[in-house]
Amino acid sequence: MDHNPFREGLSHTRRADPVTVVIFGVTGDLTRRKLLPALFALYRKGVSRLGVIGFARRDWQTEGLRQRAGEILRDAPDATDEQRAAFVNQLSYVRSTFDETAGYRELARQLPKDGDRLFYLSTPPESYEAIIRNLGEAGLNRPGGGSIRVVVEKPFGRDLESARRLNRLLADYFDEQQIYRIDHYLGKETVQNIMLLRFGNGIFEPLWNHRYVEHIQITVSERLGVEGRGNYYDSAGALRDMVQNHMFQLLSLTAMEPPIDLQADSIRDEKVKVVRAIGPIAPSELDTHTCRGQYSSGYSDGTAVPGYMQEDGVPPDSRTETFVAIKLFVNNWRWSGVPFYLRTGKRLRRKVSEIAVTFRTPPLELYSNRHPTMTRNTLIIRIQPEEGITLTVNTKIPGYTTDMRPVNVDFAYGSAFGESTLEAYERLLFDALVGDSTLYTRRDEIEASWRFITQLLEGWQNSQSRPQLYEPGSSGPHGARALPGGAGHRWRKL
Ligand SMILES: NC(=O)c1ccc[n+]([C@@H]2O[C@H](COP(=O)([O-])OP(=O)(O)OC[C@H]3O[C@@H](n4cnc5c(N)ncnc54)[C@H](OP(=O)(O)O)[C@@H]3O)[C@@H](O)[C@H]2O)c1
Repeated sequence: MDHNPFREGLSHTRRADPVTVVIFGVTGDLTRRKLLPALFALYRKGVSRLGVIGFARRDWQTEGLRQRAGEILRDAPDATDEQRAAFVNQLSYVRSTFDETAGYRELARQLPKDGDRLFYLSTPPESYEAIIRNLGEAGLNRPGGGSIRVVVEKPFGRDLESARRLNRLLADYFDEQQIYRIDHYLGKETVQNIMLLRFGNGIFEPLWNHRYVEHIQITVSERLGVEGRGNYYDSAGALRDMVQNHMFQLLSLTAMEPPIDLQADSIRDEKVKVVRAIGPIAPSELDTHTCRGQYSSGYSDGTAVPGYMQEDGVPPDSRTETFVAIKLFVNNWRWSGVPFYLRTGKRLRRKVSEIAVTFRTPPLELYSNRHPTMTRNTLIIRIQPEEGITLTVNTKIPGYTTDMRPVNVDFAYGSAFGESTLEAYERLLFDALVGDSTLYTRRDEIEASWRFITQLLEGWQNSQSRPQLYEPGSSGPHGARALPGGAGHRWRKL
């Protein structure tokens, strides 16, 4: 693994080798919103001598791509016209479908003979196979002067079998060290901070186990609905779209053992052990350990909004879940018996991503007998909207009595460091450029997570049950309350 200046905190002084990034799907939404802005930021910071070739089917020429890129980057913060022009003028375009071998010959012609190559698959997942095979058949997977890496977007498979198939196909043409399976959650500062918080401080780790932790909640809630992506979403659902990838990443970083060092594989070795240790949920436990929901029509911010089944591209009898809550256990020495509650959904009350670690009450109930509302200490790692950390502690209210109230000890990234956090895609692209795969998902990890998720999907399919309806702007379906309720726990308020 290369030395990574971000991790070492040495600023951007180290450069990646000269590299050409090939974006498959350069005319698409992700390129516009995330990839071009991130590549431009890296270019401006001089991280590498960077060239970009776009590949897509639309009838554009290089000039058309440059013009579009100029528009996209017009409002890039702190950029000068000169920088923008320099970046835009090195872009070039290959117009081809992903099936045509002529397109890959043209790509080979445009690629510089020397330097590294990064192939970025920002395309519908159905296209991955054609691109990987054609890159291989054209010999573009074989290193010439520099290294070759391939970034694969999510979704990576839709069940265990399809994920395995894709992994096998990639392995036919690339070594595992060349393959970067992206999960943009891992590019977020607070997500990376989970490890630093746990293993860079002396006070948390002694308590981070079943003796002191009562339960852990992971929430990723959204206010928006499917926003015109009904067609895609209906074939996915909340479990595939959020839990298999983002939420399992949060879970494994929260629950993992300390790695022996900070090498990519040392960290990923520990993460995959967590996913493997998750106890399967038997068909008979589906009702007590999972709850699915689907948003109904109603009002969001006072505006009438359609229910999920009335959204464009969604069949009127769809059984796809827009909300899911799961109670699971990580069956290892550290976490035996500690419930992990996961919930995610669309059209909920608030947009929140957080991990909440709730600690047990003190062993002797000196105060809690007199103060039944005394709260349990909870450490909240906030990922969205404001990245930061909060610890709730019970404190005495000033006065003659020992009345108490929980207060928050707060740390916010924005105010603590006074600079905006890096965009996730910028960080992740930087890592791929320098060959650091720590924040990318390894083959065994992705297959372990699909193993668990596929069992759930099959269980639901066999049960013939439907998701429960919930109101827009609510906390999800009523049935979700029972999940922690059975153990006397409660969801945190959204
Ligand atoms: N958009 C996001 O916010 C987001 C977030 C996370 C992950 N992702 C993932 O990123 C990937 C791309 O998403 P997107 O939203 O950018 O998709 P998109 O807007 O539909 O773009 C798809 C791109 O692929 C090209 N394409 C599709 N089929 C092709 C073919 N047969 N031959 C040549 N070009 C073809 C399209 O070219 P033409 O339009 O020129 O035909 C377009 O450039 C997906 O895997 C998605 O799941 C997206």
